[in-house]
Amino acid sequence: MTAPESPSFPHRHLLGIEGLSRPDIEALLARADAAVDISRQVEKKRTTLRGRTQINLFFEPSTRTQSSFELAGKRLGADVMNMSVASSSVKKGETLIDTAATLNAMRPDIIVVRHHAAGAVHLLARKVDCALVNAGDGAHEHPTQALLDALTIRRNKGRIEGLQVAICGDVLHSRVARSNIILLQALGARVRVIGPSTLLPTGIERFGVEVFTDMRAGLAGCDIVMMLRLQRERMNGSFVPSVKEYFRYFGLDRDKLALARPDALVMHPGPMNRGVEIASDIADGTQSLIREQVEMGVAVRMAVLEALATHLPNA
Ligand code: NCD
Repeated sequence: MTAPESPSFPHRHLLGIEGLSRPDIEALLARADAAVDISRQVEKKRTTLRGRTQINLFFEPSTRTQSSFELAGKRLGADVMNMSVASSSVKKGETLIDTAATLNAMRPDIIVVRHHAAGAVHLLARKVDCALVNAGDGAHEHPTQALLDALTIRRNKGRIEGLQVAICGDVLHSRVARSNIILLQALGARVRVIGPSTLLPTGIERFGVEVFTDMRAGLAGCDIVMMLRLQRERMNGSFVPSVKEYFRYFGLDRDKLALARPDALVMHPGPMNRGVEIASDIADGTQSLIREQVEMGVAVRMAVLEALATHLPNA
């Protein structure tokens, strides 16, 4: 994986999918395929990040993303420190910039940041010396999620080019949707978004997607059905009449999935609201890639950390 022929990645930080070229994305996916093989071995440890310090700075609660970045860093040999907002001085009124400056003074090599405000990671990139990875900023971007989704699709369908992908549900509050729309289109997929009009951002067509407010019409002919969590914590007001009603019209169940292609595959970034956006039997069914997405998450994060490590001083 660290061989000189490893595909090059010309960026110091991973702030979003926006700004990455198709070869950049393909380079990361190629590294991630190799990282899957490493993670399936008994001996999973590599030395690429030996001596390096990685800080996971999470201003929003997260289980899977934080643990995935932690495992990825450890498998590459880094010392990983987790810092979450509940136990930090941000609760005491310290600003994002102060926190970052303090951490920067401890000379980390890589900081992985999740923050509730869109643009927070871009702001930090101007203040720190180390490499930064965006682990989700507000409703803006979540680049490693989109990369792991692409890896999962490619390994199951053999390609991304030409596939019809539907991204369904709470697109308005979703950084996952935004990063996926950019990435999947960059790799030649056709993307639809499906949801109630209250949960679709105005002007979403400008991203080059087809827009559907009728799930049954939108699912017809799709190869990939990507469900999104109803992000109730980001809603201040009433966006859906009731959870029951939402499931009836926009929840993925057997009947609605039958409208997609017979070999369609189902995805969800997690955490799932079973019975709200997805029926349990579909989430656990034969067409579901949801568990595999979690495995691919570690591999993609290893790939990203490794690619950024090539630009660290003394590398
Ligand atoms: C996603 C996120 O945080 O944006 N989840 C994740 O990264 N595991 C999606 C979500 O919270 O619904």
